[in-house]
Amino acid sequence: MTDFDIRTLRDDEHRAADDLFRETLHAAPNTDTEWERTARAYQPGGSIGAFDPAFIGTARSFDAELTVPGGARLPQAGVTGVGVRADRTRRGVLRAMMTAQLEDFAARGLVFATLGASEAGIYGRFGYGLATRCRTYSIDRHRARLRPDLPFAGEIELMGLDDAVAALPGVYERLEHRPGMMTRPEVLWRLYEGHARRATEVVKSVVHHGPDGPDGFASYSVGGLHEHPWTKKLDVFDMFAGTPAAFAGLWRFLLGIDLVDKIVAPGRPLDEPVELILADHRRGNVDRVGDEHWLRLVDVPKALAARGYGHAAPVVIEVADPLLPANTGTYRITPDGAGRTDEPAALALDVTTLGMLYLGTWRASALATAGRIEVRDPAAPEAADVLFGTRVQSWCGTFF
Ligand SMILES: CC(C)(COP(=O)(O)OP(=O)(O)OC[C@H]1O[C@@H](n2cnc3c(N)ncnc32)[C@H](O)[C@@H]1OP(=O)(O)O)[C@@H](O)C(=O)NCCC(=O)NCCS
Repeated sequence: MTDFDIRTLRDDEHRAADDLFRETLHAAPNTDTEWERTARAYQPGGSIGAFDPAFIGTARSFDAELTVPGGARLPQAGVTGVGVRADRTRRGVLRAMMTAQLEDFAARGLVFATLGASEAGIYGRFGYGLATRCRTYSIDRHRARLRPDLPFAGEIELMGLDDAVAALPGVYERLEHRPGMMTRPEVLWRLYEGHARRATEVVKSVVHHGPDGPDGFASYSVGGLHEHPWTKKLDVFDMFAGTPAAFAGLWRFLLGIDLVDKIVAPGRPLDEPVELILADHRRGNVDRVGDEHWLRLVDVPKALAARGYGHAAPVVIEVADPLLPANTGTYRITPDGAGRTDEPAALALDVTTLGMLYLGTWRASALATAGRIEVRDPAAPEAADVLFGTRVQSWCGTFF
């Protein structure tokens, strides 16, 4: 028996939900002006609350599409705004909200749920596996030079926030998606806009125009380093380059901005070759490699059937999903597709581990070494490495 109820929030309860979430992150409640903007980042009907009868917990989601290996885009929920009042934690409120959300996602035919986790220990128990990773890259601008032979083609257009709000969704829309990327619905852009307008530093954006139109953009702000306010640091917090020319052009622009000492770009793909466009690759530093998104396969049969696979011998996997038991079963993975089977399994794993494997970030053999996959046929991990491998590193690049 629970001593709280979970229900979908009415739109007029979203502000209280946002303030509750902010309180769990130790942030101040919204001012009226902030709320006016933040309200537009809430998908109607997309938030739930826990009441005892006080408002004690909340979680929200928005609908988007996830690109899977092979290029298909499938419906996903982006989960965010999760928090439980500090005096009501560790009594099952999050578990109840996560369960309600997943049942709703499954009933609505969503194939995936993704989130960024505040702490690594929270979401695995609900079937979310760490599915994409990223690195924070920093460059000492005074010492870094671009390779002189780097080809450039295209123009950079600098814009303030109002113009960026109008232009960037269209540019993003045009970009080719790597696996792990998601469509950005209106509520997501409004969330970004809200963050940008709330930021203490001025947010600027640049669009790269190639021969076929806009093919990349970057948003950034410049501020004083905390310890040395006279030293300026440029933070790149949203950046996509759809072509090599856009990649080179955007970095050339960023490296050329006056009165900047250090450039920091967090959340970049692991395989983005920033160091290779520098004349001396040691002028760039990887400060950190960390988590990006956690992936929950809500509909395992659809998810497995939708992605492309590498060329290797077929492998049968047994998947366990206690929270959404319809997913539990045995699946045959082949270069031509995947589906349920009655054949004996060569590998056994839970749905959380499948979330780690699905986008190819972690190799099956590494997951087996880490004890996350039970190996029943010693030849299977190597074949699964190839089947689940991806041509480029999966990466989302959208923070929420
Ligand atoms: C994280 C948070 C939502 C958890 O809520 P909660 O109601 O205490 O969680 P529950 O009581 O439902 O716990 C469910 C399980 O998760 C575990 N858990 C909860 N918070 C955890 C944490 N921070 N780290 C590790 N495990 C955690 C519980 O121990 C419990 O484990 P069990 O199923 O093995 O018994 C809450 O502590 C919170 O609001 N934290 C601050 C804001 C935050 O970090 N939000 C998440 C943003 S991504």
